[in-house]
Amino acid sequence: PSILLDCDPGHDDAIAIVTAARCAELVGITTVAGNAPLARTTYNALVMRDLLGIDVAVHSGSERPLVAEPKFAAFVHGESGLDGADLPAPTTPLDGTDAVRFIVDSCRRTEGIWLVPTGPLTNIAIALRSAPDIVSRIAGISLMGGGTFGNRSSMAEFNIWADPEAASIVFGAPTRIVMAGLDVTHQFQATPERIARVRALPGRLAEVLADLFVFFAGTYLRRHDPGSIGGPAVHDPLAVLAVTHPHLFERVARHVVVETAGEFTRGMTV
Ligand code: RIB
Ligand code: CA
Repeated sequence: PSILLDCDPGHDDAIAIVTAARCAELVGITTVAGNAPLARTTYNALVMRDLLGIDVAVHSGSERPLVAEPKFAAFVHGESGLDGADLPAPTTPLDGTDAVRFIVDSCRRTEGIWLVPTGPLTNIAIALRSAPDIVSRIAGISLMGGGTFGNRSSMAEFNIWADPEAASIVFGAPTRIVMAGLDVTHQFQATPERIARVRALPGRLAEVLADLFVFFAGTYLRRHDPGSIGGPAVHDPLAVLAVTHPHLFERVARHVVVETAGEFTRGMTV
């Protein structure tokens, strides 16, 4: 499948980039503010592009949500958004700073692209509003977000919580939507044994990814009751795998709306 990955790298977004590059036809990468400010998530996407040695366009997008005030997640991903490893500075320049234009043009040029957002849905919402025709061109939207419980608040998951208005627009779009929420992503944990297996792989990429996992495990586990999980949930690659490896998942059809007005439930996928 052809995938356009919209992300906010972020440790698990970095793994989503690896997964998309290895398992799909990666049409392009667009970046959004989320885990870290846009400049950082964009820098991190360029770092991952070089580490993977892939020739794919990277376009930066929205530096803030549609309505909500920008809020980041340095307590999970570090100030850089990708703390924990000795990352090589990018050597290839950013291809553009208009992610929405790139998303719309890509979907108009090529039929059947899966839009795979793994961060706040700001870029996707603006693309859908500015070019409603793309709904009939894309294969669908496979997103990481939401769930029957929260992680940024008790009922809201970070990607939805960060930009509830954008999420409401996306979930209201008349297209196929596959949602990988916390209910499934919490089952996909970077346990110490799995991190060791990554580190045992040859090459620089494996070493960097193992170091990133160790950092991510540290910040993540400090925010959970001891023993409640075996390792950090590696959320974002599941939005890619839901498209490339659908047989790995059970799906249930649900009607989902996003709470935007609840005093205590804003950002909840209902
Ligand atoms: O709640 C998890 C999501 O928020 C993941 O996409 C993670 O990268 C952060 O963006
Ligand atoms: Ca993310």
